[in-house]
Amino acid sequence: MSGPLLLAVESSCDETGIALVEGGRRIHANVVASQVALHAGTGGIVPEIAARAHLRWIVPVLDAAWADAGASWHDVAAVAVTRGPGLAGSLLVGINFAKTLAWVHDKPLVGVNHLEGHVAAAWLLDPGEPEREAPPFPLVALVVSGGHTFLVEMRDRLSYRLLGQTVDDAAGEAFDKVGRLLGLPYPGGPAIQRAAEVATSRDRVFPRAWLGDSYDFSFSGLKTAARRIVDAARAEAGLAPDGSEPLPARTTAELAWGFQDAVVDVLASKTIRAAVTCGARAVVLGGGVAANAALRARLAAETERCELQLIVPRPGLCTDNGAMIGAAGAWRFAAGERAGLDLDARPSLPLAER
Ligand code: KG4
Ligand code: ZN
Repeated sequence: MSGPLLLAVESSCDETGIALVEGGRRIHANVVASQVALHAGTGGIVPEIAARAHLRWIVPVLDAAWADAGASWHDVAAVAVTRGPGLAGSLLVGINFAKTLAWVHDKPLVGVNHLEGHVAAAWLLDPGEPEREAPPFPLVALVVSGGHTFLVEMRDRLSYRLLGQTVDDAAGEAFDKVGRLLGLPYPGGPAIQRAAEVATSRDRVFPRAWLGDSYDFSFSGLKTAARRIVDAARAEAGLAPDGSEPLPARTTAELAWGFQDAVVDVLASKTIRAAVTCGARAVVLGGGVAANAALRARLAAETERCELQLIVPRPGLCTDNGAMIGAAGAWRFAAGERAGLDLDARPSLPLAER
């Protein structure tokens, strides 16, 4: 082993994840039970249903992780668990489960910030993946998910300076809401990306909220603009305003492209400006929206132009998973942090203050 093996538990939102990670980098197992199908009917997450699903899945997920890992409790140095931010009921399922495991097997417990986990995902190596250099400091990380959108500077492990964050909706939330406006399936992000890929006209202009020189983000105005633009497109096509008849596929594609372009433009421009201003050597991207192909392509082109390294974990490591908690947990464990059995859920735990 090239570092301690951590068993990591993630249950902050709607994925139940358990992983075994060695030295904060090498994944031995990473099992995720997703509730996306469960929440598709309501078009969003219902907290009580999410918490109950975690309870239902957490033991089978642990069993599956052990089956993949080929390790035993004897090899485990500590148990890491997400303590926040997230949904209180969902967090509590993982925290109580991790506490029980730590107590029964007499292992130290480490509390992990979910947002730090999204950043630390950039350090992970899949089983069998060749070794590669760890991301170089200083770096700038953009985390964009259904619950969070923030930009942070890291000068070292555990050293965060919050540069900016959303002042209203998260980027993924905007994708999900506009997806619903366009009559696309939940979650809206991947559906908008797919629709945008077949757009034949790329001249639909959606507004960008630059917020002056700030690194903060705002997506609520864009969402309102999207509603106005979709209503106008409906009227133009002679459709009922109540959304009962679908927009022509061509129009849906054009609108999806215009909206995605506006989100990507703001996210990428601010990230690159921050990286250049901070003298960063690398840009790290994480969170569910990091799966977006247009965002990846734009950041790839701009980081190359600015001679910055771009690190984007594969999509399964960008969305919520246990391995990222094992990566961040290893930093905390190495720094001597230990949680007691009184560890509590912190639904609005910040990553870093400004
Ligand atoms: O990180 P994540 O799995 O869960 C949260 O912690 O929120 O992120 C889910 C979000 C959803 O809003 C979803 O629409 C968005 O990530 N997403 C995407 C794409 N894939 C997932 N957004 C844009 N393009 C995608 N390809
Ligand atoms: Zn997340």
